[in-house]
Amino acid sequence: MAMLDIITAPDPRLKKKAQPVDRVDAATAKLMTDMLETMYAAPGVGLAAPQVGVLKRIIVVDAAGEGADPKPMKMANPEVIWASEETKLHEEGCLSLPEEYEPVERPDKIKVRYVDENNELRTIEADGLLAVVIQHEMDHLEGTLFVDHISTLKRNMILRRLTKAKKLEKGNKRHALESA
Ligand code: NI
Repeated sequence: MAMLDIITAPDPRLKKKAQPVDRVDAATAKLMTDMLETMYAAPGVGLAAPQVGVLKRIIVVDAAGEGADPKPMKMANPEVIWASEETKLHEEGCLSLPEEYEPVERPDKIKVRYVDENNELRTIEADGLLAVVIQHEMDHLEGTLFVDHISTLKRNMILRRLTKAKKLEKGNKRHALESA
């Protein structure tokens, strides 16, 4: 198992479209396991491969919630094959946009087809938090962040804050090196 570095916005790598996985082989299955470990450690409820610098259509999700038995899901090439007309607003956050939360409107229920860690095709129905997380992670595969669903004004505010935080972090690292 290995911990992976999570890319934070703004970063051009988070705006790219991910490529389909040909076959879920041992290397892909290992990446899925590493992504899940990284997600749990963060802690988070979902993670997409582009967030760890891999432009492949892979996501991992566990929306079971605190105190419940873990329900890890590893998905390659996920596709929404049905979505309810009914939508819901849900406050979203993202490991690539630390400490930022905004309500996003999405279909309440979805049906998703994907390839699991054993290279088997599966279909599931999801609602509630699970549906939110799957849709949020699938967005990452298109280079879309949750802030792309909110007003330009709010998005720019959040991105400005994140840019500032990044500069500060870089400055702190340089300081640490100079005084080392
Ligand atoms: Ni995210």
